[in-house]
Parts: sequence; structure tokens; C-alpha cells
Amino acid sequence: MLVLRIASITLMSTLTVLVANAEPPLIPMPSQATVQEGRWALDNETRVVLSDPSSGELRRIAEMWAEPLRRSSGLPLPVTGDDSPNAVRLLLEGEPKVVDRAFQGDESYTLRSGPHGVSITAATGAGLFYGTRTLNQLLPPAALGTGSGVVLEVPFITVLDTPRFPYRGMHLDVGRHLFPVDFIKKYIDLLAHYKMNTFHWHLTEDQGWRLEIKKYPKLTEVGAFREQTQVAKKRRPFVGDGQRYGGFYTQEEAREIVAYAAERYIRVIPEIEMPGHSTAALAAYPEFACTEGPFKVAMTWGVFEDIYCPTEETFTFLENVLSEVMEIFPSPYIHIGGDEAPKTRWEESEVAQEVIRREGLKDEHELQSWFIRRIEKFLLANGRRLIGWDEILEGGLAPEATVMSWRGMEGGIQAAQQGHDVVMTPTSHVYFDYYQADRKTEPLAIGGLTPLEKVYAFEPVPPELNAEQARHVLGAQGNVWTEYMKTSDYVEYMVFPRLLALAEVVWSPQEARQWDSFEARLPQELERLGHLGVNYRKP
Ligand code: ACM
Repeated sequence: MLVLRIASITLMSTLTVLVANAEPPLIPMPSQATVQEGRWALDNETRVVLSDPSSGELRRIAEMWAEPLRRSSGLPLPVTGDDSPNAVRLLLEGEPKVVDRAFQGDESYTLRSGPHGVSITAATGAGLFYGTRTLNQLLPPAALGTGSGVVLEVPFITVLDTPRFPYRGMHLDVGRHLFPVDFIKKYIDLLAHYKMNTFHWHLTEDQGWRLEIKKYPKLTEVGAFREQTQVAKKRRPFVGDGQRYGGFYTQEEAREIVAYAAERYIRVIPEIEMPGHSTAALAAYPEFACTEGPFKVAMTWGVFEDIYCPTEETFTFLENVLSEVMEIFPSPYIHIGGDEAPKTRWEESEVAQEVIRREGLKDEHELQSWFIRRIEKFLLANGRRLIGWDEILEGGLAPEATVMSWRGMEGGIQAAQQGHDVVMTPTSHVYFDYYQADRKTEPLAIGGLTPLEKVYAFEPVPPELNAEQARHVLGAQGNVWTEYMKTSDYVEYMVFPRLLALAEVVWSPQEARQWDSFEARLPQELERLGHLGVNYRKP
């Protein structure tokens, strides 16, 4: 590894003993890490020392780190402001680096361990938090498990670390299947363990509307439940399971999840799909469609022709919904979907055609663009930014929109070349609903093939972009569409260990990315995932 080699030359020149070939067992690999000979063991006297014991944030970070370790090790690990030669120190120091990209905050930290314990230094709570995540991976895997009597030891090491990308995301579709609040929290914990900082929560779909909206109770009374679910891969002839399926998250639960994520330095981006993927909403409120209805919450997967009609009533509805969403989610971005919206109904609709004439639009694609621009104006007026799937490029991009490029990298390239921010989520590398190995040996999935090695090889900045355009690539995200994931166990199976590869893609320096090194570090992390109760796929 390049940085390790450079670091080792420096070290040898200062006559420090270097452990041959020692790579720290860290995922994602830090910007710089130097392992030295020696280990420090935590004991009954070890304290957790804070630079400012009156800071609630520092205390929270310290307690979040110490609590599972108290259970597994039996050590008291008291949190205090009094330094000691036997301590884990969390030191908030210096001014946060000024940053000039959207979504970017100072997330860097330094971690040093030696004979007097561990010192983590950062200018922000986020940096300190990531330092504690690194420290967790330096401890034995059982330290985060449910066992007892674990001996806590840390190698001597110096880590200087800062992420490559400001946006490090994971998505979860709760429309096709939904998962308990406790699982969402576990998912968030695991994202944080790998220094991911964004949870994209896909909350509305044809097959279910999953967020309570007080002004429109039928969205969940009607829209959150489907009569049954298709069982076979083929849509036709329809074979259902005969089981009513559904549920939703109350606003209180959603707030609880937002707060839980924020304590782990994760932003939650809510997605409310429009104009397509809206059958569940139209089943509840058919008056916002272009045809009469009635509509049923979808029982099969796929793309559906009934979408929102561009009427004033529809915009009032969507703005009211988004107002409640913004009350719950402080995220700077609101995701409005925008993908896979067939234009059939708009082509046939007098109302839609009248908007096209009135606004001087060329076609239905420009109508979609007009629709999205109108929603963007509303979001901007409320201090939020619009993010949407790459179809929002069709018919012209809204002025300040951020694009999530999923049908490959092309949408992202176009958007970055037009000076828009971009998050790369191409089906080719980061669709975690795709098979991980030969489908003959795997449980049913939607299709494709994205093994771990392919995720690891993903490069979010395409060569087509010059340096200035490349700065618009805020990062990348793994997408988890749950048509074939009925249980949280299966979600874990599809996400792990592929998330580990993605974490290294978005956090580590590009030149540090080496498959052999990752493969060598993987077994210890898999053991840790086992202790964390994660149903990962064994590579
Ligand atoms: C998508 O996968 N339809 C964004």
C-alpha cells in the first residue's frame, strides 16, 4: 500500500521498529496508518477522558463507544475530565476545516495509541465519532459481541484520516417490503460502523406508502396496505400469496430514527416519489391521477402507467405532503424520485396537454421537467435542495438540482458537465439487490450480478470529467430495492459484505484501494459482523 510504504520509510528513518507487512485490520482503510510494535491493554483503571467534560456531545460519543465494551469486557470505563496515563482520550481541538462543497463537513481525526492509551483528536464531533469507530476495529471482534470477559487490547498505531468523498450513502426501499424500527436502527449503526454518513430512506412506492402524513390520513389507511403480493418472478399470470401486507412509520417513529441517525453523524434523506411510482398514493387519493381510477395498491413489481397528473390540486397535495416531510427531516436534501414515469397518461390527458400548451413545452418530457422545477422552487423557498434520479435530466434539469445517477454513469457525467452536483449509484456496481454470485446457488434476487470484487472496483469519478467537474461528484451510494427481500435477515445478506467494499470506495484514498489488501482485512471484519449479529454472506 502506497501510504503505508511512505509512512514506513519515515518511520525507519526515525528508528521506530516497524512490524513487517503489518496492515491495520481497518475497513475502510484510513488515509494513513502506521502500526508499531507493541500493544496496550485496557484494564480496571482505564478512564475515558474528555477534553471538555461539560460537553453533551463529547459525553454522548464517549458513552456510545464505551457502553458495549463495558458489557463485553466487564471493565468500568468511567467517563471523566481528569487525564490519566491510562486512558482513551477524546480531544476536541482546533477549528474545523473550511470546506466548499455541498454536503461536506470536517470529518477528519487523528488516532494515536501507545503505552499510555489512546488519544483521538478532531475538530468536530463527527471526526471524534469516526475515531471511535476506528478504535472499535482495532479491538478484538468479540469486543462488540454479546459475550463476556473479552480482553480489550489495541495495537500501537498512528492513524491520520479524512474521507475522500463528502457523500457516503446507503439506500433502503421500505415500499416493497418494510422493516421494523429496530432494524432501521441496526442498519444505521452498521452504516456508522463503516463511516457512511447518509441514509436514503425510500418511503413511497406503488406497492406501499410508508410515512404517516397527518393531512392525508388515507395515504397510510389505504396506501400502506396491499391485498396480496406476487409470489413468482413473472408478473403474468398473476399468482399471489393471498396475504394482506403492509404497515407504515408514524411521524414519531420517523423522528426517532432521524434523531438516532444524527447521533451517529448520519443524515436521513427522505424520498417521496413523483410523478411516477405513485400507485399507492393514487389508490388513496385517485383525484390526483389523470384518469378516474379507482386504483389499487400494486401487488406486482415493475413500472406502472398511472402517475400524478400535473394539476393545481396535485401540486397543493404534494406541497402539503412535502411540508410535513420537511418538518420531520432536517436533511438539506429532499429526494423526489423522478425515475420511471411512463408518459402514456399525460399523452392521453386533456389537462396535461393543456399545461404543455399553456407553458409552451415541447413534449411530455419537458412537462416532467416543468413538474420537477416547480417542486424544486417550492423546496428552495423552504431552504431545501432537490435531489432526484437521473431521469430528471430529461427535458432539462431544474436549476439547482442534484442528480443521482443510476442507469449507469452517463446521467452523472452530463449533470456534472452542466455544473450540477452528482451522487453516483450505477446499477453496474452498487445495486445491492443484484446477485452476489451464480444465481443457481443464491436465494432469489431481482437479477444482475454484482460480486464483492466488482463493488470494490467501482470508481465514482469517471475519466470523462475534468478536475472542476469531478468536484461535483459528491460521492456514491449503494441501493437496496426490496422486491425480493421480505425479511431484514435477507437485507443483511444482500448488503453484507458488499457495503464494506463500498465504504472503502467512498472513504479511502483511491491509491490505497488494493483488492488483495481488502481481502486480507476482510475475515476479521466478518468475524466482527458475526458478533454484531449480522447475517452476512460468506464470500
Ligand atoms: C431506480 O432504480 N428505479 C432508481
